[in-house]
Amino acid sequence: MYDVYEIRKDFPVLEKVIYLDNGATTQTPKPAVEAMTDFFYNYAANYGRGAHRLSIEATNAFEDARETVADFLNAPAENMIMTKNTTDGINIVANGFGFQKGDHVITTLAEHHSNFVPWLKQKELGADVSVADIDPEGFVNPDQIDSMITEKTKLIAVGHVSNVFGSIQNIEKIIQIAHRNNIPVLIDGAQSAGHMPLDLKTLDCDYFAAAGHKGLLGPQGTGILYIKEPETIKPSVLGGGTTSDADACSFVTKSSPECFEAGTPNLPGVIGLGAAVEYLQKIGVENVEAHENKLARETAKRLSEIAGVEIYGPKNRAGLVSFNIEGLEPHTVAMRLDKFKKICVRSGYHCAIPGQKALGINGSSRASFALYNTEEEADIFVEAVLEIADGN
Ligand code: ALA
Repeated sequence: MYDVYEIRKDFPVLEKVIYLDNGATTQTPKPAVEAMTDFFYNYAANYGRGAHRLSIEATNAFEDARETVADFLNAPAENMIMTKNTTDGINIVANGFGFQKGDHVITTLAEHHSNFVPWLKQKELGADVSVADIDPEGFVNPDQIDSMITEKTKLIAVGHVSNVFGSIQNIEKIIQIAHRNNIPVLIDGAQSAGHMPLDLKTLDCDYFAAAGHKGLLGPQGTGILYIKEPETIKPSVLGGGTTSDADACSFVTKSSPECFEAGTPNLPGVIGLGAAVEYLQKIGVENVEAHENKLARETAKRLSEIAGVEIYGPKNRAGLVSFNIEGLEPHTVAMRLDKFKKICVRSGYHCAIPGQKALGINGSSRASFALYNTEEEADIFVEAVLEIADGN
């Protein structure tokens, strides 16, 4: 049975605040923090660089964590690259894809900058970039993407869940359309991984990037990138850890995943991420999804009934709700929520300016839910928004 009060015992900070900024960073459960402490106290050594016991222990723990995350998303471990965050993963693809002048990329207005600016950068280097529209609820129309495809289209890059609108895109249909045209698809899973069941084998996307520090409950500085066919991406950062042989004028690069993990990796972070994913598996990601979506949908409904409050996104949203109070800057709303009730929400453009500009939204405040938030917290939040809107 899903017991949110039991879960909360693993997140001590929740005794101090009402934390509704989970779209930016979730809290990390005790077992994951303990796994990291164990690394520091008992076997902090480098990855794959020593025959001594500590290095072997550290390497094995890192690989076990990789395996855990790969299993969780139903992907082979050798295709699962440990990155710094979602942006890092998407840049590995953008910089290693080998775009030529005139190659065409399709992305959308629903994107976070992490899945937008890397493609605009390719535009500066000579690629063509088309940007699919969003409707007023933040949805992308797969048929529009279909109509944008040309014989030069080399990649379609789409976010799974909008971090502003909470809209869940029909990525299955987009992948189907793309593959019918032999075009690979990159999915930005920053707001979906750990928030809903995901099976990368069935989904059959070509690239999937996500953060460790959001739905997967790991620490900051961790992320994952799945590459279905690693040979399609040329590693763009090389050096220690990526090289199997070298002489004065040449080098041989290792295979995936190591060729994409240059330098000493974030061992404690990845080990913590592995423990966090194990924790999530025990709770059951489908239970987490039901819990978060229910909280967000009910909250959105109640906010929409408050005079002077405008909410964004669809009824069937993922676990977040962005909103504005008439006459108040989003940052003012966030500061008042914090000051009056110790409620932490994000405010501003949420690193996703193009979509909001397109819909004439000048930033917003955003409450984003996680597995440990309660209905009582949602009540306090709605009451606080009501008071702020009333007093305005
Ligand atoms: N991408 C993160 C957010 O939406 C930081 O808040």
